[in-house]
Amino acid sequence: MKAAWYTSLGTSSVLQVGELPTPEPGPGEVRVRLAVSGVNPSDWKARLRGRGGSIAFPQIVPQSDGAGTIDKVGAGVDTTRIGEKVWVLNGQWKRPHGTAAQYIAINAGFVAPLPAGVDPAEAACFGIPALTAWRALTIAGGVAGQVVLVTGGAGAVGHHAIQIARALGAAKIVATVSSPEKAAIAREAGADATIDYRKENLGERVKSLTGGSGADRIVDLNISTNGPHYADMLRQGGAIVVYGTDEPMASIPAGAFIPLAPSIHFFIVYDLASDLRHMGMAEINALAAAGKLKTVIARRFPLDRIAEAHDAVQSGKITGNVVLDIP
Ligand SMILES: NC(=O)c1ccc[n+]([C@@H]2O[C@H](COP(=O)([O-])OP(=O)(O)OC[C@H]3O[C@@H](n4cnc5c(N)ncnc54)[C@H](OP(=O)(O)O)[C@@H]3O)[C@@H](O)[C@H]2O)c1
Repeated sequence: MKAAWYTSLGTSSVLQVGELPTPEPGPGEVRVRLAVSGVNPSDWKARLRGRGGSIAFPQIVPQSDGAGTIDKVGAGVDTTRIGEKVWVLNGQWKRPHGTAAQYIAINAGFVAPLPAGVDPAEAACFGIPALTAWRALTIAGGVAGQVVLVTGGAGAVGHHAIQIARALGAAKIVATVSSPEKAAIAREAGADATIDYRKENLGERVKSLTGGSGADRIVDLNISTNGPHYADMLRQGGAIVVYGTDEPMASIPAGAFIPLAPSIHFFIVYDLASDLRHMGMAEINALAAAGKLKTVIARRFPLDRIAEAHDAVQSGKITGNVVLDIP
């Protein structure tokens, strides 16, 4: 089969494209003939720095998200699943073989049915962007009736988070963005208000948008820059959910936090417990089937140009998701 891989960490120049043996599904696994592979920040981070600082396997086929059709099943998996259109998650998490390939053999628990009418390219972005957004909005209880602040509202996760917060009944959604174009994208997704985080005072704007009380929930993609502002943006007893950071260390306003009494939650989407993962996959599918969850596909590259796709995501200049079309 045609696939992309790397055998050492480094810039996108370590990526090679060629022929690899087609995998066979083991017990409990399905084999998916991939049509689209989603590219996420963790794919270039894992390729550049490894997970834990070194390369985890001698050869890594990158990327965890994808969509395609089950073409073969392993022992213990119902053969009626052959032919089922699906989306895939956790392809390259604690295993060497991700979705930047024509085929992946993977545990059936990491595969969800593709809802009727949903574009496979969009579903190839559900595994990380949509599931992270869903977990960020549910880890501290639901957000019905709450004021939710979504940072990076035009980002891959943030854009899904706005839509899911709206579907979960948030009373008000405020999103931070960095341009009028990104503000329009966040509003289109369901944000009631936007803040230009590079030009405006975050605390003052959130307070003025919430009658002085602050948000009930902050869903944050970057604690290293936003952490110092948390106390200015959160109501007393509110919850902060952190799923990203640009730096390994971050500051939080500890003195203000003692009377503010917030809860802070961290998580990594790859490691959700099986019951939560399946709940999230089902809720994402229900929203997508109902037309309430749209993914912005910003750029599509053929598999051969995977290095450009990684560089595009790493540049931070893409608004929306990047996918590879698999031949
Ligand atoms: N914990 C997990 O399981 C998990 C899952 C998915 C992603 N992540 C992490 O979450 C981060 C975002 O992922 P993504 O896929 O959504 O990336 P993305 O689509 O590239 O969105 C990130 C965008 O957010 C904006 N941004 C950066 N810092 C910001 C800040 N302080 N406030 C507001 N906006 C800011 C930037 O756009 P502007 O130029 O407009 O500022 C940046 O391009 C990455 O670090 C990723 O590794 C973690």
